Amino acid sequence: MLAIRMEETEKAVRASSLCKEYQIGDFIIEALIDLDLEIETGKFVSIYGASGAGKTTLLNIIGGLDEPTSGEIVAFGHDLRTYGESFLATFRSAYIGFVFQSYNLVSTLTSFENVAFPLELAGWSGKSVENRAEELLKLVGLCDRSNHFPAQLSGGEQQRVAFARALANDPPLMLVDEPTGNLDIGTGLEIVKILEKLKEREKTVIAATHDRRIMKLADLTLHLKDGRIVDIDE
Ligand SMILES: Nc1ncnc2c1ncn2[C@@H]1O[C@H](COP(=O)(O)OP(=O)(O)OP(=O)(O)O)[C@@H](O)[C@H]1O
Ligand SMILES: [Mg+2]
Repeated sequence: MLAIRMEETEKAVRASSLCKEYQIGDFIIEALIDLDLEIETGKFVSIYGASGAGKTTLLNIIGGLDEPTSGEIVAFGHDLRTYGESFLATFRSAYIGFVFQSYNLVSTLTSFENVAFPLELAGWSGKSVENRAEELLKLVGLCDRSNHFPAQLSGGEQQRVAFARALANDPPLMLVDEPTGNLDIGTGLEIVKILEKLKEREKTVIAATHDRRIMKLADLTLHLKDGRIVDIDE
């Protein structure tokens, strides 16, 4: 497991002059342009902006899932550009909980197994896995769905399992990509409640969202437009 760095008590994320280009043939897409950003630990940050503005790209780079083309990205004191994939995999498992818009649950595993899986990968075993997975399913209000497979769950329930899984190793940073984007207003409320609990627990959260109920939780709101931060609201 990674050593916790001193810096993490202050800054969760620091990006400077961050750029991300995608090249398709001769065509270059500038997804992020010269982006500077600092996020302190314990803050709840929301990011909004039109489709294609760069929200998912930014979350993926912060979480070490994607590499910037240039610039610096430091998360919990780790300069992510200096590391290879094997370190980044360890980094993600120790520091990051991802919640994707499309849930990304393993379809052949039950809710319980989807949550237990990252615990086992992190070296948990036996009864401790069972207790922790049950505790997480309780947190998201799904104890009675632990033996259901994803196809047997509603969209909102699948997203709640995705939160439980992302929280399994108690990561200091949750990266959440449009968590209510595919849900109707009523179903989305359960997700908003989970995010409220995370805020109460002072977990660092970065959420790409247009959901007013989630934006209201934010200490810091970023407006991304065409790959640039055009407004920061504190
Ligand atoms: N793998 C890729 N290859 C090429 N271009 C990409 C790739 N991923 C993203 N892009 C482009 O980068 C830009 C930013 O994409 P991104 O997915 O970050 O936007 P977004 O703000 O998350 O949009 P949405 O609200 O639709 O999810 C877009 O123009 C997109 O087409
Ligand atoms: Mg996106």
